[in-house]
Amino acid sequence: MPERQLRMVRPDLEQLPVIAVPAEYELRTYRPGDEAAWCEVMNTGIGTDWTAEKCRRELTEREPFLPNGCFFVTKSEEAVATACAFDVQPEGLNAAQVHMVCAKPAHRGRGLGRLVTLAVLHYMREHDYTAAFLGTDDFRVPAIKTYLGLGFVPDYIEDSHRRRWSAVFAKIGERPS
Ligand SMILES: CC(C)(COP(=O)(O)OP(=O)(O)OC[C@H]1O[C@@H](n2cnc3c(N)ncnc32)[C@H](O)[C@@H]1OP(=O)(O)O)[C@@H](O)C(=O)NCCC(=O)NCCS
Repeated sequence: MPERQLRMVRPDLEQLPVIAVPAEYELRTYRPGDEAAWCEVMNTGIGTDWTAEKCRRELTEREPFLPNGCFFVTKSEEAVATACAFDVQPEGLNAAQVHMVCAKPAHRGRGLGRLVTLAVLHYMREHDYTAAFLGTDDFRVPAIKTYLGLGFVPDYIEDSHRRRWSAVFAKIGERPS
């Protein structure tokens, strides 16, 4: 069986930083018909074959999708970064998933990944979740740094993940928790 993705968890949703939207950008939630614009963001960093039809099938028309927990950062109406809350729980946690965090390359390096992830965490707290989790990959260093900075920690769901996390932390110059 192939190894599973790395998992991170934020064991509580206390002490979330305040949301600050950089000048020139706006933060809004999902509107019906956003799928094509969402695909344009995802195709720059989470796969390359997103179409509006696939986006509806795998995201917006699925039960765990929470329209008001799906955030877009826009600049002059163009969606440039996204993340959404997905109502799926790992065992034993009153959590939801932070899903599909991505920013268009021209807008990276400005903390927009942090912004959309934080917006999702605030949404979760306001909707009575008590924890958050996410799946990620070893090579996604900017994302992992973003998540660590927001209080996520590795959740070692497979023995091999300790080794994989050590390699990730060596890459980013931090120590595993
Ligand atoms: C995840 C993503 C949204 C973050 O973009 P961003 O908000 O612009 O983040 P930044 O590029 O500023 O990087 C975040 C942090 O990683 C650091 N970083 C970026 N590239 C790095 C690298 N190659 N090595 C080490 N650190 C790096 C940045 O310095 C920054 O650190 P800081 O918080 O201490 O300032 C963006 O990288 C992205 O869309 N990636 C592709 C999709 C993806 O991987 N999604 C995550 C799925 S789980």
